[in-house]
Amino acid sequence: MAEPILKWVGGKRQLLQELRAHFPISYEEYHEPFIGGGAVFFEMEPTEGSINDLNRRLITFYEVIRDYPEDLIEENQRHRYEEGYYYDARDRFNELHQLEERSIEQEIEEASLMLYLNRTGYNGLYRVNQSNEFNVPFGTHRNPDFVRERQIRKASAVLEHIEIYNRDFSYLKDRAAEGDLVYFDPPYEPVSQTADFTEYQSEGFNKDDQRRLRDLAEQLSNTGVNVVISNSPPVWELYQDIDEFDVSTVGASRMINSDPDNRDDVAEVIITNVAKEDQQQQDLGNYV
Ligand SMILES: C[S@@+](CC[C@H](N)C(=O)[O-])C[C@H]1O[C@@H](n2cnc3c(N)ncnc32)[C@H](O)[C@@H]1O
Repeated sequence: MAEPILKWVGGKRQLLQELRAHFPISYEEYHEPFIGGGAVFFEMEPTEGSINDLNRRLITFYEVIRDYPEDLIEENQRHRYEEGYYYDARDRFNELHQLEERSIEQEIEEASLMLYLNRTGYNGLYRVNQSNEFNVPFGTHRNPDFVRERQIRKASAVLEHIEIYNRDFSYLKDRAAEGDLVYFDPPYEPVSQTADFTEYQSEGFNKDDQRRLRDLAEQLSNTGVNVVISNSPPVWELYQDIDEFDVSTVGASRMINSDPDNRDDVAEVIITNVAKEDQQQQDLGNYV
């Protein structure tokens, strides 16, 4: 099984088994339009399909992994885990982002800095200011691994035949076809007014985006696409009147008990149009 290369807010590692239980036993292509750290994608190891994210640095990172894994590994070996070096690397990362056109070498450099900053910055956060400048401070880690040779080679092989986009999730309207599986893991609707879920992108993802996603999910469902969505409980009401979608709650107490410090430990909902008898949970016994 391939592993995610980056740490990413909203990572789905703990929910993998529950999510997979709702996936159909068989499908054609696999699409993940909010790829983030890609925990589910790398677990699935699909051979055909697409990934996407609005975050351009993240998408450059995956393109470089797919197309130039050895150059990336070589570049990663140049970095040092030192505070002064970290802040110079952060400046360079922001400088590269400002360039209108970049050479392949500059994209490889940016991808390598993305990984370095993710492994050595505070808490593995990705956070940017209004001008899209990455502003996470230096973090304390024991032997941070920013080379990740084995993981990069494995991920590169998985990505070999996968299309990579840097668009709004709505590209799927024209890309997903009957029999495909789409897994949507959007930025979550905040559970409370005070919850801060805006760190994904400075633009955020608002209620209208949640409704656009619901409309697209319904449209895809009508054309025979298998749809699975994870989100936080408040979005349940957006789907309650659509007959073909079932909503179940997962995650809550078990995650809270096993890791009290985990900030992702809110209950989640899984929304799907995959009929119970076609779901993998039939194969996994009564795991869920
Ligand atoms: C919850 S995270 C995905 C987490 C991922 N499943 C993982 O395991 O790491 C949501 C992602 O959606 C991206 N995003 C936000 N708005 C978007 C949009 N309109 N279209 C596509 N991607 C978007 C963010 O950049 C972020 O990476």
